[in-house]
Amino acid sequence: MSPQFPAPVRTRSQALQQRAERFFPGGVNSPVRAFRAVGGAPPFVERAEGAWLTDADRNRYIDYFGSWGSMILGHAFPRVVEAIERAARNSPSFGASTAAEADLAERITACYPAIEKLRFVSSGTEATMSAIRLARAATGRKIIVKFEGCYHGHSDGLLVKAGSGVATFGIPGSAGVPEEIARLTLALPFNDLSAVEAAFAAHPGEIAAVILEPIVGNAGCIPPAPGYLAGLRALTAREGALLIADEVMTGFRVALGGALELYGIDAGPAAPDLVTLGKIVGGGLPVGVFGGKRALMDLLAPLGPVYQAGTLSGNPLAMAAGIATLTYLQDHAAQVYPYLEATAKAVAEGVAAEAAQAGVSLTLNRVGAMWTWFFTPGPVTDYAQAARSDKTAFGRFHRAMLLAGVWLPPSQFEAAFLGTAHGDEETAATIAAAREAFRVVAAG
Ligand SMILES: Cc1ncc(COP(=O)(O)O)c(C=O)c1O
Repeated sequence: MSPQFPAPVRTRSQALQQRAERFFPGGVNSPVRAFRAVGGAPPFVERAEGAWLTDADRNRYIDYFGSWGSMILGHAFPRVVEAIERAARNSPSFGASTAAEADLAERITACYPAIEKLRFVSSGTEATMSAIRLARAATGRKIIVKFEGCYHGHSDGLLVKAGSGVATFGIPGSAGVPEEIARLTLALPFNDLSAVEAAFAAHPGEIAAVILEPIVGNAGCIPPAPGYLAGLRALTAREGALLIADEVMTGFRVALGGALELYGIDAGPAAPDLVTLGKIVGGGLPVGVFGGKRALMDLLAPLGPVYQAGTLSGNPLAMAAGIATLTYLQDHAAQVYPYLEATAKAVAEGVAAEAAQAGVSLTLNRVGAMWTWFFTPGPVTDYAQAARSDKTAFGRFHRAMLLAGVWLPPSQFEAAFLGTAHGDEETAATIAAAREAFRVVAAG
């Protein structure tokens, strides 16, 4: 199946968008789904299978956002769908413990030796928010260090934007975040150990935790510089602060054990104190995880004084989808990860080669099956450099690709993903679409 030429009709999607705007701010239930950054209106999805999305007008698109990274096995993967159906027949929720929770926990801890104990929540936002609370309780300190361009969900303290310079406290990245809370978050440039060193020097004994995406995905894809993660571990350990690796996006994606496995910091003194997971671990259903050292996790209620709870935490349908997904990944890891690497390399580099051919200046950053084509000569090693990208050109590229049946994440600052259902046919169709799209971009 090749992409559609000429432009697809989207009359039903347009009508559905108008109706959605009556009910939902901007017509969406999560702002990243809107197309404001790239122009045009988002198609409404009716169904999806494998690597392909089908919209309400029956147009088909190759999917490169995969429910924002969740769908590593492709859409409607039969074993996952069957597991959800089986679990649903026993009732979708009990609000009491089930064996499935420990079944999934066993699989998670097998992939993540740094996680000795864990708790399930229903989103990545909840996972990071709870990890921060735990870190503050464990250290008796208040300040959190995060990095510019890293996104850890929408809890108040983690929405803080870039502060300029180490001594500057962050400003609220969203209206509605009280300044008193924003002040407790320091936002520093990624890949700059000296900034972290200076923050510890400026706030001795006050920093509870450093939280980061070990590979940034939420400013577009930005890998850690060699030695950066080990340097953060050494600094935090020296200063008595916790290190929180937010692997909501990278967990089970860049390797079975995520970035921690990929960079060899998954166990022993090199490992972070706490890890957060989401997306893939729920197989397309809402699951988040925070976990880590046993002594830290035992601070949680009902054992300890840190309160954290959830009506639907460990939901049986979500556990079933997670177990089916992780079981497949574990049983086929030796094939899955090399396949994802080869396929993502072919797509990402194939498209970048078309840009070069058309005279469009791009920087490609990629780690396994997540990547970004930044519309800037680069290099891109932090958010400030990512922000130099030509967003207008990216918007033109995005619209042209969508017309050709390739649905990229609708922002220059979101990583693209693919999964095991993407193959040669999708790769060839994507590169062919890019050839045309870059002509449009180059024409200005
Ligand atoms: C690294 C990271 N952390 C946390 C979150 C928040 O997860 P959720 O959207 O499930 O609340 C995201 C979401 O994209 C993320 O990429």
